[in-house]
Amino acid sequence: MSTAKKSYPRVTTNSLIQMKQDGEKISMLTAYDYTLAGLVDGAGADVILVGDSASNVIAGHETTLPITLDQMIYHASSVVRAAKRALVIVDLPFGTYQADSKEALRSAIKIMKESGAHAVKLEGGEQEKQSIERILQAGIPVMGHLGLTPQSIYKFGTYTVRAKEEAEAKQLLSDAKMLEELGCFGLVLEKIPAKLAQQVAESISIPVIGIGAGNAVDGQVLVLHDMLGMSKEFSPRFLRRYADLHTTISQAVSEYTADVKSGSFPNEKEQY
Ligand code: KIV
Repeated sequence: MSTAKKSYPRVTTNSLIQMKQDGEKISMLTAYDYTLAGLVDGAGADVILVGDSASNVIAGHETTLPITLDQMIYHASSVVRAAKRALVIVDLPFGTYQADSKEALRSAIKIMKESGAHAVKLEGGEQEKQSIERILQAGIPVMGHLGLTPQSIYKFGTYTVRAKEEAEAKQLLSDAKMLEELGCFGLVLEKIPAKLAQQVAESISIPVIGIGAGNAVDGQVLVLHDMLGMSKEFSPRFLRRYADLHTTISQAVSEYTADVKSGSFPNEKEQY
C-alpha cells in the first residue's frame, strides 16, 4: 500500500527536496545487486543507496574500510540496471576522497561515468568542504553523512551513539548548515539523539534522512539485509525487522538438501 502524497515517475534530487517541502517522508534502502534492487525499486522505495555497507553485508568484512572504488562501481552498475524509478546514490568508499579534492572529484566522476548512478554520498563535514565543493562544481549531486560515520570507526573506537555531548552536537549542527550552503541535496544522520536530529531537520531546507536518529526527520534509511532479517546477530535498537529471511532461507535450504539426499528431488514432473 502506497501512502505517497504525489506520484514521482522518476525520483530526482529535486523530488526529494519537494517531498520535504510537502511533508512527505522519504523511503530509502540499501541494495547492492540487480535482483534485490529490482524488488526495492518495484516496491516503491524512493531512494536506493549503494552503501559501502556492502563491505560488511556482502563481502563479510568487519568494517566498511576495505571496499574499493571498482567494487562499489560493480555493485552500483548492477543496481542502476534494475532501478526504474528510484534515485540511485553511491557511497564514495574510504580512501577515495579524503586525500585531496582532486582525487575526490576523480573518484566521483569514475562512479558517475562507469555505474550510471545519479549521485554520490560521502562522510564528514568541515574537513571535506573542498572536496564537496569541487564535486558539486562538476555537476555531480552530493549527499552528506554526519553523526556515526563508519569510515571513522578507528577514530571513534565504538559504534555507539554520537553527538551526545554539547561540543560534538554543536559541530554537527554547523556541519549540517555548511553542507546545505555548499549545495548538497540531502544529508544522512546516523545514530545521534532524536532531539538533535529534529533540530537539524528543522534548521535546514534539504532533506535529512535518519538511521537511528528518530522520527522527526524527513525520511529513513536502513540496510536492506538488516531490515529483511537476513542475520540474527546485528540487533541495534533502531533496527526494525520486516521479515525473518534468516529462518525462511535456512528452512528452504535444509528442505532442499534433505530432498536431494533422499532422492525425492527432482520428481517425474521436474525432469525432461
Ligand atoms: O553504507 C551504508 O549502508 C550507509 C547507511 C547506513 C546510511 O551509509
